[in-house]
Amino acid sequence: MADISSRPIPRHVAIIMDGNGRWAASRGLPRVAGHREGAKSVRRTIEAAIGQGVQYLTLFAFSSENWARPAEEVADLTFLMKHYLRSELGELHEQGVRLVVIGERERFGPNLAEELAKAEAKTAGNDRLVLIMALSYGGRADIVSAARKAIAAGIAPEALTEQSFTHLLSTDGIPDPDLLIRTSGEKRISNFLLWQLAYAELLFSPVLWPDFGAADFAAALEEYATRERRFGARPV
Ligand code: FPP
Repeated sequence: MADISSRPIPRHVAIIMDGNGRWAASRGLPRVAGHREGAKSVRRTIEAAIGQGVQYLTLFAFSSENWARPAEEVADLTFLMKHYLRSELGELHEQGVRLVVIGERERFGPNLAEELAKAEAKTAGNDRLVLIMALSYGGRADIVSAARKAIAAGIAPEALTEQSFTHLLSTDGIPDPDLLIRTSGEKRISNFLLWQLAYAELLFSPVLWPDFGAADFAAALEEYATRERRFGARPV
């Protein structure tokens, strides 16, 4: 067995959880059944991330574009997120998980937005794992929002740097992802963390999200450990 003690562990893993619909269709089930099963994978993956010593885990749970899905599916996803939050928050808190939400949460209505804010406040002191939930999130919207903040603050063009711009994004204070995993075999970024993924290692897994488990997460980290990260520089 390979020596894993000195293996580089990604500090921040971001995941595009894809394939719920296909998982359900292949079983002749409604799409919501795939999302329900996908919520179980969320729980497994959080546990796996904690077990592997990952410090930040970002999950793309709902994209800005997902609002274009049929109203019934949007309602199912909103219900599932609300249900997940209510049923899992206590345990997440006990496990030392800090919840951070990025994206336009207000679009889900004042109730869920308020519940999310309370969950963030309740877990704010935890530091075992920072769980970043991207809800109604779009990478371009994040960048435009940061640009608007810069303009509104009257920042002089020459004073705006990559460093200062980073602080205006919704992920301020969160290190960039080291590893992006997308499940279900699709090979796209789909308007996820466009700015933040600049130097992330990309890993596309054929496994459908509801089938994704601890072994797949461990395999992804093993693959990551074999990658040589150069951040644009040439080895000397
Ligand atoms: C992509 O599958 C997945 C989503 C659009 C939503 C992700 C939601 C969950 C994992 C469940 C609820 C979330 C939480 C946080 C409890 P898809 O529907 O695009 O699948 P397809 O490409 O096979 O149709």
